Amino acid sequence: MTDHFVTVEAPAKVNLTLLVTGKRPDGYHLLDSLVAFAGIGDTVTARPADSLTLHVDGPTAASLPEGENIVVKAARLLAEAAGVPLAADIRLTKRLPVAAGIGGGSADAAATLIALSRLWQIDLPPERMRTLALSIGADVPVCLAGRPTRMEGVGEVLTPAPALPPAWLVLVNPLVPLSTPSVFKARTADFSTPDPLTHAPADAHALAQALAARRNDLTAPAIALLPLVGEMLAAITAQPACLLARMSGSGATCFGLFADEAAARVAAQGLSAHQPGWWVAPAPLLG
Ligand code: C5P
Repeated sequence: MTDHFVTVEAPAKVNLTLLVTGKRPDGYHLLDSLVAFAGIGDTVTARPADSLTLHVDGPTAASLPEGENIVVKAARLLAEAAGVPLAADIRLTKRLPVAAGIGGGSADAAATLIALSRLWQIDLPPERMRTLALSIGADVPVCLAGRPTRMEGVGEVLTPAPALPPAWLVLVNPLVPLSTPSVFKARTADFSTPDPLTHAPADAHALAQALAARRNDLTAPAIALLPLVGEMLAAITAQPACLLARMSGSGATCFGLFADEAAARVAAQGLSAHQPGWWVAPAPLLG
């Protein structure tokens, strides 16, 4: 067997805005979200093998839940869809906190679909890949897109977003998982009207202004379930040169937006000093 391997990065997904615009009869919520990616994430490496094996390492590997890993689910569904044997040796290096609102599992699943498509030399039509991704999780299609995207429906309606300017993020997570279904259930406010970003912001300040005019509608229910989210937002806002502080997805990860790397690194140090138990990660916003 040849010793080639395929490595695909699984960057953190960040909901820069998240409006809940309605609810489907099956209970899933309709969203209008500006999704972008950060230059930090997990890594998926796939090598040829006779059967499917998964090895997980990395700083957050120990917090993965029991049961079938989403990477294995993605591999199984892709092999079934393509009619190829389910055979690969996969290494998942986990750096992102689990159940954190930054799509760790969804990013891993999308990276697995990409890595195994290359390893197995299969080329499913993009529409088929998106359907497969959606069957794994609502955020997997946008992670497959991997670039700034307007996400609507429950995650299946994707439109390229205007280009984002150079900017840095500081991601902050209390290392307490927050369950996505419980946050959606705790949401009681009226539905929002869709409000997409229509122009490319000229710089990080203009981006912050555009984002400030929109919201993450899941913030209040997340704070009601986990008051630490409110504390993190206050601590991020208090950092010098912070342009905007917001929660991503259904939480608990929050992020600060900064104009440049130096400002982000100073804020990250300040946040780590404020609360040494928090996971704090400065990373560029991928435009
Ligand atoms: O598909 P995913 O596993 O990411 O979603 C987890 C849960 O979050 C769903 O079972 C549902 O309760 C809730 N959810 C929702 N509306 C969405 C996405 C997720 O209600 N658009």
